[in-house]
Amino acid sequence: MSFDRSLKIAPSILSADFANFGQEIEAVEAQGADWIHVDVMDGHFVPNLTFGPPLCKAIRKHIRTVMDVHLMIAPVDPYIEAFADAGADVLTAHLEAGPHIHRTLQAIRGAGCKAGLALNPGTPVEALDYLLDMVDLVCVMTVNPGFGGQKFIHSQIAKVETLRAMIGDRPIHIEIDGGITPETAPLMRAAGADVLVAGSAVFKGGSVQDPAPYGENIRAIRTSCDTLV
Ligand code: DX5
Ligand code: ZN
Repeated sequence: MSFDRSLKIAPSILSADFANFGQEIEAVEAQGADWIHVDVMDGHFVPNLTFGPPLCKAIRKHIRTVMDVHLMIAPVDPYIEAFADAGADVLTAHLEAGPHIHRTLQAIRGAGCKAGLALNPGTPVEALDYLLDMVDLVCVMTVNPGFGGQKFIHSQIAKVETLRAMIGDRPIHIEIDGGITPETAPLMRAAGADVLVAGSAVFKGGSVQDPAPYGENIRAIRTSCDTLV
């Protein structure tokens, strides 16, 4: 996985047909997805439940791009190896998931994955001051984690601008997760983001039988950012 700051659209399979993940992933990749975002929820850290390492392992063989696993679970550490074994390229933990996030990031890199760190909307970016050299990706949540289809929280734009300045030349991706549409995407791209997760805005109107809308939706997000420098 090489590093650059080009725009990457990462459809979240949280909005895909749960009975058909393999074909859904192949369809969005064929329609222009750059990464595949996989939302793992435990019904404890967030008020919703999705799936765990066996499902991730099963869908891995359908992913040709990057498997971006977003862990909305607490604790994290007991499961890192299982998600690494399942084939995660990026493994993202929440800063709020426990008292030892530094150790968690060490363990993620130790397991051979890129280390991602997610921040809830209420968490200040200064919380990253002593962690930046431990991370390969920072995920700024622009909704409260737990569900797809929520409204974008605009206060996070200033957070991303500050984060971009803090990162400087470090090879760290800035990922935005929640409420991304062709209206909100350019705000975040301008603020410095390079990975835009989008669930409902990518999967709406399409299906495995009729995947063309996925491509139109991905292009609409991409084009909305094109007007920027
Ligand atoms: C929210 C998840 C997101 C979600 C995004 O807890 O982490 O990845 O699927 O969905 P949309 O794009 O519909 O806000
Ligand atoms: Zn997510």
